[in-house]
Amino acid sequence: MQIQEAHDLLDPTWPQVLIMEDEVSVAKGLGMVLSEEGYNVDLAMTGRSALDTFNQKMFDLLIADLRLPDIDGMEVIKQVKRRRPDTEVLVITGYSTVTTAVEAMKLGASDYLSKPFTEDEFLSAVKGALVTKEFMAADAAATPLEPLPEDSLRLTEVLQQIRQRFTGRQQEVITILQMVQNAVGYIPIEALQQVADFTRMPEAAVYGIATFYERFRLSPVGRHVVKVCRGTACHVKGADKILHEIEHRYKLSPGQTSKDRMFTLETVACFGSCAIAPVVVVDDKVSADMDPDKVGKVMKDLALNDPKFEPR
Ligand code: FES
Repeated sequence: MQIQEAHDLLDPTWPQVLIMEDEVSVAKGLGMVLSEEGYNVDLAMTGRSALDTFNQKMFDLLIADLRLPDIDGMEVIKQVKRRRPDTEVLVITGYSTVTTAVEAMKLGASDYLSKPFTEDEFLSAVKGALVTKEFMAADAAATPLEPLPEDSLRLTEVLQQIRQRFTGRQQEVITILQMVQNAVGYIPIEALQQVADFTRMPEAAVYGIATFYERFRLSPVGRHVVKVCRGTACHVKGADKILHEIEHRYKLSPGQTSKDRMFTLETVACFGSCAIAPVVVVDDKVSADMDPDKVGKVMKDLALNDPKFEPR
């Protein structure tokens, strides 16, 4: 089985939505509205069942009620975002306050809808939450990074060491994947195929393990990692303009690495440094009160001082 087939198998038709709502009639009603629009919908009536479902399946969007019979909806959002930061979250609640709205946005929720709301308001919030994800997915898919010759060289060497050191048991897969990542910097697709052969596991299963653990990367990382905060405080003070400047200047979307492997762009829900917003972190160095010009200068200086810099 090829990797693309494995991916399709693990992450079927887009978009997958999980509705976490304890009022059965509301949950079913919202589910029906989305199903009619072509969304794939799962329902969870409690926080725990939402987390269980989330652990078994990939979701593009979590629609989260905050008051649940067992655990706090905020806690569920926190765990979901920790496990898979790219899951979009739409909060729906009958007990809205500014504090809870700010808290939800800080946790990474894309939108916040107070009950009661109309079907149109609900649908437009769902579509809005998924727009960024759709755009990023399409953009990332359009520009896959080719492995460099040195990647292939390092991969060959490390696979040789792996064959000498391991016996090919399935329990060894995680350690083997970690070795590949340590040697190459990420896990190339061809490595997944070779690890599957070596351990006699289906490629889909190896792919599933590599995508399940956050520590594994399936694409190269740049020599400099630029993280832009998109939390509420930074958003209010112009984080989007900073992000737009980087996207425009370096033709990068969040999650992507530039073709020359100079920069990887990432976004973060909150660095916990809201008092100095907007915040950008470059290679673990925190920069306060940023604006598009300042971030442009920081990145330009890094590029000029990079030994592999080649003027375009
Ligand atoms: S919102 Fe907290 S650091 Fe940006």
